[in-house]
Amino acid sequence: MAPLLQMANVHKVFPGRSAVTAVKNLNISVQQGEFVAILGPSGCGKTTMLRLAAGLEFPTQGQVIFGGQPVQGPRRSRPLMFQEPRLFPWLTVEQNVAAAGPKEMARRVLGSMGLTEFAGSYPHELSGGMARRVALARALVGQPDILLLDEPLSNLDLPVRRGLQAELLRMWRQGLTCLLVTHELEEALVLASRILVLSPRPAKILWDGQIPLPYPRDRRSDAYLRTKQDIQKAMEGWSES
Ligand SMILES: Nc1ncnc2c1ncn2[C@@H]1O[C@H](COP(=O)(O)OP(=O)(O)O)[C@@H](O)[C@H]1O
Ligand SMILES: [Mg+2]
Repeated sequence: MAPLLQMANVHKVFPGRSAVTAVKNLNISVQQGEFVAILGPSGCGKTTMLRLAAGLEFPTQGQVIFGGQPVQGPRRSRPLMFQEPRLFPWLTVEQNVAAAGPKEMARRVLGSMGLTEFAGSYPHELSGGMARRVALARALVGQPDILLLDEPLSNLDLPVRRGLQAELLRMWRQGLTCLLVTHELEEALVLASRILVLSPRPAKILWDGQIPLPYPRDRRSDAYLRTKQDIQKAMEGWSES
């Protein structure tokens, strides 16, 4: 089957006095229905890869293909959820979500995420976890084919984080393809159907494997611990230069 998202020999150079090669010769394919977690050390090019997939950046060389077509700009069908929620402070929760799709759909998504009672609240009235949920609702209101997630759960308390992880898994089970960037192995192991481990910049793929473990993931099962060890071994490549 043709992949939903494909990066073929992608290079991304940020020009300047000290030009940075953020991504070099990268080849990644994501199939429809996968939940792919990309694990990589800070600065290896993860955000750049997601911005390329989202159409917010363009490759210096190579191709980014989505649904068989070259990516030419941002689309509601492949929203990027940033590290911080980035809500419009002057709009209510409902207006923030409706800014990305039809109002009726915004109401429906807020309802399905248990956010209806906050529809009239402003971003500064929300907790960090609640703001992330609104950002997730905003990403979903455009009925995306893929959700691009840039460490969207960083800096959240564990219970809030677990709640959002469960929310993401629920969306995924309903058919949404997910590409999540993280630097936390636990998060990848709890969520992903496939994990890719990247090396420091310029990122090479150190490990790429299916995670055929049932959900919810049992952190104490032998299979989980074996997979975790395997990936930790690959992550030793993060400290080599
Ligand atoms: N707009 C930009 N201009 C110049 N350099 C950039 C830009 N965006 C990212 N970089 C550089 O590209 C490299 C990869 O960055 P990034 O994709 O943000 O990594 P990560 O998300 O894995 O931490 C870093 O060295 C970063 O400084
Ligand atoms: Mg980043």
